[in-house]
Amino acid sequence: MIEKTLVLIKPDAFAKGFVGNIISIYENSGLSFEKAKIVLPSKALLEMHYKAHKGKPFFNSLLDFMSSGKIMALVVSGDSAVQRVRNINGATNPDDAEEGTIRKLYGTSIEKNAVHGSEDPPAAKEEIALWFE
Ligand code: CMP
Repeated sequence: MIEKTLVLIKPDAFAKGFVGNIISIYENSGLSFEKAKIVLPSKALLEMHYKAHKGKPFFNSLLDFMSSGKIMALVVSGDSAVQRVRNINGATNPDDAEEGTIRKLYGTSIEKNAVHGSEDPPAAKEEIALWFE
């Protein structure tokens, strides 16, 4: 089924100049781009985006990091796009991510893990609305 999902290229990867390389990985896997923009996100936006993690020990640090620099937000589409993006991104912790995944290639810690991809189709719908509507 054709799906849409939200990808965020996080401040660590953006600042290091990996945006082009990362976008190429999605593109070369046959996924398409519907929307894209560069944002310096507010804490308020990030609180909504990461509401599932509110109260966790890493929440404040995550918001500080995610608001520390520019992000590229993308709506990515394709057959089973949500799961395909998650597979391409790799495990949350780059140490656990498989070779060739974006987080293995460009992530440096569980927090500075280069990219975000929506967890499932309902989350994708909510996140796309939050970042683009
Ligand atoms: P992301 O896919 O953006 O979704 C939630 C984010 O929280 C995750 O990637 C990580 O960047 C971050 N995260 C998850 N677990 C931890 C943790 N234990 N410590 C620090 N950051 C975490």
